[in-house]
Amino acid sequence: MENLKNLVDRLYDTSHLEKDEYVTLIENRDSIKDYLFSLSSNVREKHYGKDVYLRGLIEFTNYCKNNCYYCGIRAGNKDAERYRLTKEQILECCEVGYALDFRTFVLQGGEDPYYTDDMICDIVREIKARYPDCAVTLSIGEKNEETYRSFFEVGADRYLLRHETADCEHYSRLHPPNLTAQKRQECLYTLKKIGFQTGAGFMVGSPYQTAENLADDLLFLERLKPEMVGIGPFIPHHATPFADMPQGTAELTIFMVALVRLILPKALLPATTALGTIVPNGRELALKVGANVVMPNLSPTDVRSKYLLYDNKICTGDESAQCRKCLESRVTSAGYKVVKSRGDHASFTERK
Ligand code: 5AD
Ligand code: FES
Repeated sequence: MENLKNLVDRLYDTSHLEKDEYVTLIENRDSIKDYLFSLSSNVREKHYGKDVYLRGLIEFTNYCKNNCYYCGIRAGNKDAERYRLTKEQILECCEVGYALDFRTFVLQGGEDPYYTDDMICDIVREIKARYPDCAVTLSIGEKNEETYRSFFEVGADRYLLRHETADCEHYSRLHPPNLTAQKRQECLYTLKKIGFQTGAGFMVGSPYQTAENLADDLLFLERLKPEMVGIGPFIPHHATPFADMPQGTAELTIFMVALVRLILPKALLPATTALGTIVPNGRELALKVGANVVMPNLSPTDVRSKYLLYDNKICTGDESAQCRKCLESRVTSAGYKVVKSRGDHASFTERK
């Protein structure tokens, strides 16, 4: 016990532990969690106070050329009803979102070749022209360096690309052979190099995951130093190869969020929808241990129930305004406050 406390103290002081030390904390988390949570919550307040940033999530296509074994919109899922939003529809989402005080728009989709680089650039350029005080985040998968650069040049500010799992062997058990951990990680380093505020992240409780895998995820975050880290539980989707695999737990997910807050003190950490899906107060719990971002759904209501990465996803039946209100009241009830701001990483100053 005292030993565990020393480990957490050292993590707090240095933002680094050895792999076996992370494993020890993860395996003995029940006896150290309260202490960890008190420190992680302090670190979050030191850098961001009680502020919580909003991101308007626009799920603009559920077509995907990939076949990740865990994901409900994988190409192999012939039951998925596919949709794409037009540029005009995306801009309408932004208009609604701006009126609801969103100052970041996240364009997320499957890897859908229908949208050429030029089309994405055109959409980003138009959003930035209409809403110069807003940040644009892209979350559209693996691209080459030139493409990432072209997105950055037209004004995209941030890019989300979860690393999913840092361990190559574990990665290969979650993905078909054409997708590799090495490629994934290279993309993330490229995004950082270009100057994006970059988001990595992983699922907790994904099939075959061990405590060592999670420790490797933490060491990878130490090396990459992403500005954002998305952490959510794995939730099975009925029409995937992992339909019968057990779901990740909220308890371990929350513990991992708290560890990441100590490793990357200024990180932007979302309280994820997946966590809110498996326990009703999941997002509130994440906020209390160090998360500082929420991502209400801004997609048009008629497509929401089609963007299903996992079963039982919440927020699929609500209007954007309802979703926004619901999240604000959750944030307030947890003791925090939603702020109307781009919500950049504490080390970023706005680009000219
Ligand atoms: N359960 C939880 N999260 C999932 N994701 C994809 N499928 C699932 C699932 N079944 C996550 C991945 C991806 C992000 C957009 O959603 O981590 O990067
Ligand atoms: Fe969308 Fe609650 S956050 S309905």
